[in-house]
Formats: sequence, C-alpha cells, structure tokens
Amino acid sequence: MEKGTKEFFAAAKGAARAAGKLIRENWRKSKQVSAKSNAIDLVTTVDHASEELIVDILHKRFPAHSILAEEKTALALEQAEYCWIIDPLDGTTNFVHSFPQCSVSIALERAGKIVLGLVYDPLRNEMFHALAQQGAFLNGTRLRTSEVALLDNALLGTGFPYDHKDKGDFYLGFFRAFMLSCQGIRRAGSAALDLCYVASGRLDGFWEFKLRAWDTAAGSLIVREAGGTVTDFSGKEFSLWGEQTLASNGRIHAEMLAVIQTVTGS
Ligand code: IPD
Ligand code: CA
Ligand code: CA
Repeated sequence: MEKGTKEFFAAAKGAARAAGKLIRENWRKSKQVSAKSNAIDLVTTVDHASEELIVDILHKRFPAHSILAEEKTALALEQAEYCWIIDPLDGTTNFVHSFPQCSVSIALERAGKIVLGLVYDPLRNEMFHALAQQGAFLNGTRLRTSEVALLDNALLGTGFPYDHKDKGDFYLGFFRAFMLSCQGIRRAGSAALDLCYVASGRLDGFWEFKLRAWDTAAGSLIVREAGGTVTDFSGKEFSLWGEQTLASNGRIHAEMLAVIQTVTGS
C-alpha cells in the first residue's frame, strides 16, 4: 500500500461520515435553494455547509494538499503532490425534493491518477471505497461487477446534464437507442452512486454526458477496482476532464459502444 494511504483513507472516511450526518440531519427540514448555471441547476445551503465541513477536515489534516470541490473551493497549491476532488452532495435535485438517493464523493489524485475513491450514501449508510490496485469495497466487503454478458439482459443507469432542456433531443437519441436494446434504464440522480452501483453489480452499465471531475473521480476508480471498464463514448481512455462517461461490467462494453455508434454515426 502506498505511503500515507491508510491515513488518507481514514481522514476521507471521517469527512464523508461527518458530511453524511449533516445531510441526514437536514433531510426533512425545509431547504434554502438557489440556482447556479440555470434554473434547474440547484444548490442548497447544505451543499455549501457539507463542502466547508469536508474541506476543513482535509485541509487541517493535510495542509500541503490541493483541493478541488464543486461549490467554491479551488485550492491549487504549487508543488502539491496530492489533490482532493470533492462533491459535497451529489444528487442535489433529489435532496431538494427529498427523493432518497444522494451521496458524498471524495477522491484523492496523485500525478494525474486517482489513488483513493470513496462514495458515501448517508441514507443507507453505504460506504463504497477503492484504493488503486487494492480492490473496491462496500462497507468493507469486496465488490465485483455483474456477470451479465448481453445488453439484452442488462439494467442500465444514466443521467441528464443541466442543459437537458436545450439539448433534449440530442440526449434522448441516446436514451431511445439504449431503451430499445437493454432490459431497463434507471435515472436515479446521483452519478457518483450510479458508478458505485455498476461496481456492485446493481447496474450493468451507465452512460452520461458532461459529468464533472467531482462526479466521477471516486466512482470511476471504484468501477475499475471492481473489475469494470470506464471509457469515453468511442472506447478511448476515460478522462475526468472530458464530457463522456461510459462505465460497465466490461462484458457489455462493446455492445454499449456499438449502440452509441448507431446514434453518433461514427
Ligand atoms: C448531478 C448528479 C446527477 C447527474 C448530473 C450531476 P449534483 O450532480 O450526479 O445524477 O445527472 O449530471 O450534475 O449537481 O447533484 O452534484
Ligand atoms: Ca455531482
Ligand atoms: Ca454536488
């Protein structure tokens, strides 16, 4: 195990649990909501409070590390070996509507690679985590992706970016093509958890456009460490900074790529 990993993991777990507690405590309370990039891209005071809590814990513990968190923290320290990538509340629209599916996502990057990923579902007390080359786990139990080998038999997950009102037809083209070729599709509302569901075999595959690094940093490592595959929509290496996320159990990946090709024509 890489030097410091145990300490990093313990701190990230503590921060995720503290943030999860905050989310749970505020679950039934009325939410103070405001809009970000447009009227359906929401943020609440709890997103901000969760971020402050996590950043405070990690920054105090590791002052030499950079931090990139969704709502406001971009602490780029020169010479920093590590960077924490944080989504303090993934599933804000669900949170606003009290639809019970949300998570806290914390990842640690070193030299362009994610070395630790952790996604915590505070409503089910499910802690997903992975350390590079050490496997993926749910509450300490080893995870493996599903055995489903045919897209026909697959349950897929997806999500829609916040510009879906402007680009509805474009996103629905992919939805339609997958709907016609798989067993079922779920849009649960927390991309970080969707990826963990692929890792744990609850979903067989997942696709989404325009996810950000804080949505996918932890989850993409968790999928890979569970034996799954993550690429872009043409099968090339997945980038946290790109616009396409395709994750699967590996077995149906080629079929999913082929479906995407029928829509893009390339
Ligand atoms: C969103 C969720 C959602 C996905 C969106 C994300 P947020 O994150 O992960 O499932 O479809 O694209 O932006 O805004 O709730 O942190
Ligand atoms: Ca998110
Ligand atoms: Ca968020």
